[in-house]
Amino acid sequence: MQIVHTLTDLRAALAGRGKPAFVPTMGNLHDGHLALVELARPRGDLTVASIFVNRLQFLPHEDFDSYPRTLERDCERLRAAGCDLVFAPSERDLYPEPQTFKVQPDPALADILEGQFRPGFFTGVATVVLKLFAAVFGTTGGGVAAFGKKDYQQQLIIRRLVEQFMLPVEILVGETQRAEDGLALSSRNAYLSEAERAEAVQLSLALRALARDALAAAEGLPTQAAALEQRAMQALAARGWQVDYLTVRRRIDLQPPRPGDGSGALVVLGAARLGRTRLIDNLEI
Ligand code: PAF
Repeated sequence: MQIVHTLTDLRAALAGRGKPAFVPTMGNLHDGHLALVELARPRGDLTVASIFVNRLQFLPHEDFDSYPRTLERDCERLRAAGCDLVFAPSERDLYPEPQTFKVQPDPALADILEGQFRPGFFTGVATVVLKLFAAVFGTTGGGVAAFGKKDYQQQLIIRRLVEQFMLPVEILVGETQRAEDGLALSSRNAYLSEAERAEAVQLSLALRALARDALAAAEGLPTQAAALEQRAMQALAARGWQVDYLTVRRRIDLQPPRPGDGSGALVVLGAARLGRTRLIDNLEI
């Protein structure tokens, strides 16, 4: 497995090797990332992962500085997973000058949920993903790229980015990988204390309960959703969580359910803070 840091070296390493299957990451890899490598690998001629902690998608008070940077260990895991090439640029490599042109995703999709609580987050994500796609696919005539379903809103936005800019990239979406107790795997789980780790599964349990309530409401869901969400948020808050949202939405556009939206069309999503760790999760109904 080859590790490159600059665009020039990346392009040289890609030359003549066919269509890449690409997994963009911010490093500190867990089994969820490796499952994406497994998903993408058979869909390309060579498997490429990127490791880059993207300052543009962090708010000033967020964990950009403390985000774990574990390049050596990440590369070992990627090598073992059958990855062929790692692109690990420095900030200067990826942003050689201040990024004055940015991608502004549709506010109807990007300013709600995560975007409401992390303003500018999806502009940062969409901008770096477009740059990474240009780096990886710019000279290869396209390929596939894999993203995790745990970041539900992110994968929707990236799919729209690809459609709207007519990028020659097929987006693959991998299922959320979970620990034995059901906690969604996330790099940020590393921040949890032992007691918080034991409590953390309650977010996915709260989503399951909300999904059950949503299904039980059936035709009445559009009018009852807000009250069900309120009850779910209060229950989690009573356990000591700071809840940003627990909500039932349409899978297609993340808007509230409308009459006729039943199972197969809906997803419950949640974000809440346990101590200093903010966790997100979702469950398709
Ligand atoms: O999901 C992530 O790890 C990041 O948001 C991504 C897509 C690598 C962009 O920095």
